[in-house]
Amino acid sequence: MDLSPDLLEMAKTRVEGLGLGDLVVCVEADILTAYDKNGKPAQGLDLPPLGTVDVVTCSYCLTMIPPWAQALDAMVALLADGGTLGLVDFTKRSDKPNAWSQLLNQWWFANDGVYFDEAHTTNLRSRDDMITTWFAEAEGNVPYTPLVATHYTWTGKKIPKGSAKPCEVFTPKYAPSAPDAPRYVR
Ligand SMILES: C[S@@+](CC[C@H](N)C(=O)[O-])C[C@H]1O[C@@H](n2cnc3c(N)ncnc32)[C@H](O)[C@@H]1O
Repeated sequence: MDLSPDLLEMAKTRVEGLGLGDLVVCVEADILTAYDKNGKPAQGLDLPPLGTVDVVTCSYCLTMIPPWAQALDAMVALLADGGTLGLVDFTKRSDKPNAWSQLLNQWWFANDGVYFDEAHTTNLRSRDDMITTWFAEAEGNVPYTPLVATHYTWTGKKIPKGSAKPCEVFTPKYAPSAPDAPRYVR
């Protein structure tokens, strides 16, 4: 799902190139309005019913959606109990969100409609309906700029309604998301 027809064209080209054309449906929609108030796909969009999806992933989108908490709720609503949500995006370092480097990135990217906010990962890790199974932050170069920005990867599983939240199965730590990624100096 994406708002942008141009991005969907790129996605379709990649899907076809990978030989997955028969398996993947690209849907032009806004995550914030894709389902109506009764939980049905809006305007006949070719989307699955809420509460039925095994895996939802979201890559570098949340920072572009000002009502990001609403977008996260919509992604969680799509998941079946026990389903997995996986996100990768920019953030401000959760251990020092007000360091000058993090504030500089926040200001710089906001000029381009990309809003860094450590509340995204705080929300993900503290939700009552999700249990964190992976969380890592690492810094990496931003292509074509001298900037170094913080990225995170997060995965979690949906907790069935009415069930107690189990203890976190993953001990969060600052770990590079790839073996050769730069580590934080703490
Ligand atoms: C930085 S691009 C990432 C594209 C792709 N997910 C990737 O990782 O290559 C962010 C995308 O989020 C989409 N987007 C922003 N707000 C959205 C919304 N409310 N609903 C659906 N897509 C949205 C934009 O159209 C854009 O294609």
